[in-house]
Amino acid sequence: MEENIEKVVEEAALEAEGAQSSRALYEVKMKFLGRTGKVTALLKNMREIAAEARPAFGKRVNAVREKLEELFSRLEEKVKERELAARLKEEEIDVTLPGRHQRAGALHPVTRIKSELIEIFSGMGFEVFEGPEIESEYYNFTALNTPADHPARAMQDTFYITDEFLLRTQTSAGQIRLMEKKKPPIKMLSPGKVFRADDDATHSPMFHQMEGLVVDKHITLCDLQGMLDEFARKVFSETSKTRLRPSYFPFTEPSVEVDVSCAACGGKGCSLCKGTGWIEVLGAGMVNRHVLENCGIDPDEYSGFAFGMGIERIAMLKYGINHIRLFTENDVRFLKEFED
Ligand code: DAH
Repeated sequence: MEENIEKVVEEAALEAEGAQSSRALYEVKMKFLGRTGKVTALLKNMREIAAEARPAFGKRVNAVREKLEELFSRLEEKVKERELAARLKEEEIDVTLPGRHQRAGALHPVTRIKSELIEIFSGMGFEVFEGPEIESEYYNFTALNTPADHPARAMQDTFYITDEFLLRTQTSAGQIRLMEKKKPPIKMLSPGKVFRADDDATHSPMFHQMEGLVVDKHITLCDLQGMLDEFARKVFSETSKTRLRPSYFPFTEPSVEVDVSCAACGGKGCSLCKGTGWIEVLGAGMVNRHVLENCGIDPDEYSGFAFGMGIERIAMLKYGINHIRLFTENDVRFLKEFED
C-alpha cells in the first residue's frame, strides 16, 4: 500500500509539472484529488488494510493530499502568470503608430440645394410632402388639367410603364395628391426625382424638382413674387431680384416663367446670362381653377399659386456646373468640390 501511495504521488507530480495550461493543470488535479481521483481512491481502499494500520495509513494519505494540493497551487500560480504574460504580449498595442486617415464624405450638391430649399421654405411655413415616383396618368396629367388629347402632353417625353402608369415627369403630381387629402390653408413643398426621355448638357432622363404650392383665401401673384424674391436672395445673393414673364402651363392661369437677376454680373450682362442680365430659373403661376375643382376645392372661395424648379438647374447656376451628367457620374474629384 505504501508503495502504491508513492507511485500515485510520483505520477501526480510528473503529470502536474507537464501541464502546459491552467485548464490542463486543473484536469490533472481532478484526476488525483477530485472526488473520483486516484488519491481519494486510496482512502476508499482502507477496508483492505488491517484495522490497526488504518489510522497511520489515513494520516499518510492526508499528508500526501496536502502536499499535492500545495504543489498544485504553486504550479497554478506559475501557469497563470505565464498565461497572463502571453496574453498581454498578444494584445499589445503600439500607441505610437500613426492613426489611419479617415476621409470624410461630403453632401452631394443636389442634396445640398434640396436641403437649403427646404430650410428656406420651411422658414416661411411650408411643409414637406413627398409623392410617389411611379404615378398614374391621372395625377401626372389629367387632374393637372392636361387631358389625354392635350397638346401639352407632348411637351414632356414621358416614360410609360403601362397605359395607365408612368414615371412621373413632374413633381406637380404631388399637388393633386396633397389637395385631395388636405383642404386650405395649404403651404406645401414637394421635392423628388422626375423622369423624362431627354438627354443633353442640361437635360438628363432623371433629375430632381422642387414643387411649391400655396392655397388659401386671397392669394395673388404678388404673394408669389414676394416669396420668390426671398428665395432668390437666400439662394443666390442678397441683391438678387426676380422677373416674371408670361408663359403657359396647363395647371396654372396665368402662368409665368421666373427669371432671377444674374448673380455673376449683377444684372449687367455676361456670358452666363448671355448678355441679358437675367437667368430663367423656374416655372410658376396661379393654380388653374380646374385643378382646384378636380380636388374638391372651391375656386371662388380659394386661390393659390404653384411653382416648380429643377434642383440640378439651381445647383448648376449656383456652383457654375456646366454639364448635368456630372451629378450622376459620382466622380470623387467633382464631389470633393463640395466638401465643407
Ligand atoms: N411642372 C412644370 C415642369 O415640370 C414646372 C412647373 C411650372 C410647376 C409651373 C408648377 C408651375 O407648379 O406652377 O416643367
